[in-house]
Amino acid sequence: MKESIKTVKYNFHIWVDAIAFKLSMEIQTEIYKAIADVDYQKLQAEFQAQNELLVVENFLPNSMIEKFLALLPSLQPAINRNYIPNHKKGGSISRYSLDSLAPIFGEFYQLSAFFEFLNKITAEKLLPCPDADPHTYALYFYTEPGDHIQYHYDTSYYHGKRYTVLLGLVDDSSSKLEYQLYKDIPERETQTRSLSLTAGTLVLFNGDKLYHRVTPLGENEQRIVLTLEYVTDTRMGMLKRFVSNMKDAIAYFGFRQVFRS
Ligand SMILES: [Fe+2]
Repeated sequence: MKESIKTVKYNFHIWVDAIAFKLSMEIQTEIYKAIADVDYQKLQAEFQAQNELLVVENFLPNSMIEKFLALLPSLQPAINRNYIPNHKKGGSISRYSLDSLAPIFGEFYQLSAFFEFLNKITAEKLLPCPDADPHTYALYFYTEPGDHIQYHYDTSYYHGKRYTVLLGLVDDSSSKLEYQLYKDIPERETQTRSLSLTAGTLVLFNGDKLYHRVTPLGENEQRIVLTLEYVTDTRMGMLKRFVSNMKDAIAYFGFRQVFRS
């Protein structure tokens, strides 16, 4: 009897592994398709001209968006809600919860094809964040009226640069990603622009250069975003790691997630 339970468990693991492998092959193929027709010269020029910001509408194929959307209902209990008066209101799910509940997001983050794309646009050799960073990949849920985040930089606490990727998954909202280009360059005039992060839209920017906010969500609206973080140097001083963790605990994922053992 014991043997048969063992066998069933073993077969179940093989089955789960086979499905996970098939899924990861599928997303690899889909991302290759998504970047196959990219005009790198044009996008690199846009990225540089906008002080290291790039926006690509319809970047994610629908088939991939659907794979992500199918997982959202099961992730509902893992959403951590935050409210910091005059700064931020909204929900988030950390990489740790995604790793246990929806590993496809972590697989997407690691895709070599996607790294290739990002390296070419940024002209950097980007690295994944260390396991200790709960913000490596995460989901943001704007689901209640007034959900927003005030103007901020995605400051790099790492020794090198930090790049943020935002990918729109759901946007039934009037919320805008509003940003002030060139704010960090004293001799240039700041330009304020905004965009809707529609499903499939990719936004890539240098966190220390783009001053940005998300305007408040209206009634009966929702906006769900996948965020990915890449760096040029994975080292971070202990004090900065502490500050970064405190920020993530208070403003995003809660203390239990961030300071889990
Ligand atoms: Fe941000």
